[in-house]
Amino acid sequence: MLVCVVLLLVTLCAQGGNGEDIQRPGHVSVVIVGGTGDLAKKYLWQGFFQLYVNHVSSGNTFSFYAGGLSPPEKANPVFFEILKAVTCPKDVSQEHCALLKEQFLRLSAYRQLKTLEEYQDLSKHIEVRLQQEGLTEAGRLVYLSVPAFAYADIAEKINSSLRPADGAWLRVVLEKPFGHDFRSAQVLASQLESSLKDQEMYRIDHYLGKQVVAKILPFRMENKKSLDPIWNKHHIERVEIVLKETLDVKGRIPFYDQYGVIRDVLQNHLTEVMTLLTMRLPMNLSSIEEVLQNKLQILDSLLPIGKNQAVIGQYQAYKTQVQQELNMTKDHFSITPTFAAVLAHIDEAQYDGVPILLISGKMLDERVGYARILFKNDIFCLQNHNSIHCKPKQIVFHFGHGSLQYPAILVSKNLFKPVLKDSDWKEVTEHKDISVLGLPVSDYYVHTPVEQREAYSELISHIFAGRKDNFISSENLLASWEMWTPLLSSIATTFPRIYPGGAENGDLLDVHLKGKEISYHSKVVMISNNPMADMAADGFQVLQGKFRGTEMVSAWAEELVERLATDLQEAAEEAVREGGVFHLALSGGSSPLALFHRLALHHFTFPWRDTHVWMVDERCVPITEHQSNFRNLHDHLLQHVRIPYYNIHPMPVQVSQRLCVEEDGGAVLYERDIKKLVNGSSFHFVLLGVGFDAHTASLFPGSKIDQHGESLVALTESLTKPHQRMSLTFSAINRARRVALLAMGKSKHEMITQLSRVKDNPEKWPVTGVKPSGGRLVWYLDYDALLG
Ligand code: BG6
Repeated sequence: MLVCVVLLLVTLCAQGGNGEDIQRPGHVSVVIVGGTGDLAKKYLWQGFFQLYVNHVSSGNTFSFYAGGLSPPEKANPVFFEILKAVTCPKDVSQEHCALLKEQFLRLSAYRQLKTLEEYQDLSKHIEVRLQQEGLTEAGRLVYLSVPAFAYADIAEKINSSLRPADGAWLRVVLEKPFGHDFRSAQVLASQLESSLKDQEMYRIDHYLGKQVVAKILPFRMENKKSLDPIWNKHHIERVEIVLKETLDVKGRIPFYDQYGVIRDVLQNHLTEVMTLLTMRLPMNLSSIEEVLQNKLQILDSLLPIGKNQAVIGQYQAYKTQVQQELNMTKDHFSITPTFAAVLAHIDEAQYDGVPILLISGKMLDERVGYARILFKNDIFCLQNHNSIHCKPKQIVFHFGHGSLQYPAILVSKNLFKPVLKDSDWKEVTEHKDISVLGLPVSDYYVHTPVEQREAYSELISHIFAGRKDNFISSENLLASWEMWTPLLSSIATTFPRIYPGGAENGDLLDVHLKGKEISYHSKVVMISNNPMADMAADGFQVLQGKFRGTEMVSAWAEELVERLATDLQEAAEEAVREGGVFHLALSGGSSPLALFHRLALHHFTFPWRDTHVWMVDERCVPITEHQSNFRNLHDHLLQHVRIPYYNIHPMPVQVSQRLCVEEDGGAVLYERDIKKLVNGSSFHFVLLGVGFDAHTASLFPGSKIDQHGESLVALTESLTKPHQRMSLTFSAINRARRVALLAMGKSKHEMITQLSRVKDNPEKWPVTGVKPSGGRLVWYLDYDALLG
């Protein structure tokens, strides 16, 4: 009798309150492929036992299979130990728990799952069982807890042999990593799509099952009235999403070394938290499509993350661990980061300029995970700095561990008193004498779940209910990789800062936010064998010399860009002093981007109000495309400075909805504007780059340069895509008062070496045609381009 009452209670609890769909009852077969592995042992079997406990009396019947590569005689004892360790929820009596465990054990079995035949056998086994026991099949849940390289093959086997009969569902759960970068995620997604339907795939991110993370959207919704006025750039100082861990990755190196912290934690867990914090609130929280759509929209509005928006580190012992686990010699080292701090920004009016910090690392001083929204506090306290309104205003989504030791949502008392409608959450009013992120816990309103539940158990119950809102859709996955891949490539050869680990890290990993950039706060003294580096360290940073008979400035990239920006500003100030206006023509391509950033972030006194910006060249694509030079100029410079719109002169490559058609006269129009506005058509400053084929502006080798005659602007053709271009001609360039030729990076070294030897021949080496008639030409070459 007691057993029945408990069973009934357990069932009611499982069905009430958490919004699960009512499902067709029947038999459910659960298969964990990799069922005796680490994850299965730590979380999955416990999660499925919990599911069993919750649903045993709901009309469903179950069988559980652990699949693995080992033969049963080897795997069975391991599997049995795992099952023995599962525990019951607190509210289940010992007696009843023993009964449930015994049933669970009887329903569970290990099966070798290596070959297609073994998958077919399992399917046959399930069918026979259904028949013998007269059961209707509800569905099959297959959990892939195996390395991702095995997914495509297993998915194919599932598709061909493990599908249930019509009317029953198939749900296949996949663990990250879902790829290594955008391209590999795309390949994996398409491989999986050939075996499984989208609605059958559940890509799991266990952070979405953490109670505090799952509460972010409901919290934002329930407290909309208090949050709406402050959830924006005017009030938010910054957002921090942090996972600090004390453990190292010993034992996981063959996996970890290929991934590193950004792929392991930032690309998935921390990105998910970021989307939940910043996405538009759905009208209806239970609309899965709307939730996923709004997430996608915020991922799409993330600004590209540049190299200067990340710092990376590696704990000291990692090197030796890699040598040991990968069987490498003592001189082998890896540059895989075990720590990263990344600064992201969202391109939306609501969050314009709000820094979003994502930080995670192994072997740090403490284990804690949280997301903090730090608000600006514009109250000036004259005397009592301890009074509550003088303290930091913040909301902390505390995932767990840390000084608090339990999951909670904390709102500082100087913000507002939050409401949490859900009866699964309670307010904590008795506090220990501890601080959370700079505030005594008693200065917060603290809410915590009434009962703490494991993330995996939560998500397993969602899978069982067919709820997909807390899983990763293909579109969202690709959008996240799109955000991270360029950063990953740009730091692929960067050396991480080495840190000792634990409390000894001190302030070594503190970071400093400066404008849109992030750097380590403390400088490390670098000892190097590289004479060039010593030269830079000695302050011998900028070389003046001659290149191709004219002036040359050379330095390490950063100093070179600094120098060019200073020269540019001086030229601008001089022109404005003399004539009230500065006409500047800028090239496209990648080299000037660093200059644009420098100008945007450091040159606040640049006379932008009196500057006219012209284009040296443009690609014949719509201005909104990433390939457009103007779009780049806009994104990296113009949008960050206060320049009047009417001083900006994009090249009219699109006229009458057509791109670069001669008779539409775009080039003629641009030329007319130059003649009208620029005194003597002589720009004050022209910034040029040089390509691998020695092209400059969009004047390519072999393009009939001499046919341009006196025209200032021409349509030209490039061998690389997009082929059609519009460009200033030599006639326009050589009238300029000052021309800067910028080349940076090792990839330009070969070309620069060749150019140092060749004679002028603009047909073959277009850049040699740059010879300002009355002006000054200066080459700006970084050491990599100059010395290789
Ligand atoms: C996993 C990562 O996904 O998340 C681990 O692979 C990391 O490296 C773990 O330790 C963190 O999760 P949690 O739940 O312990 O914070």
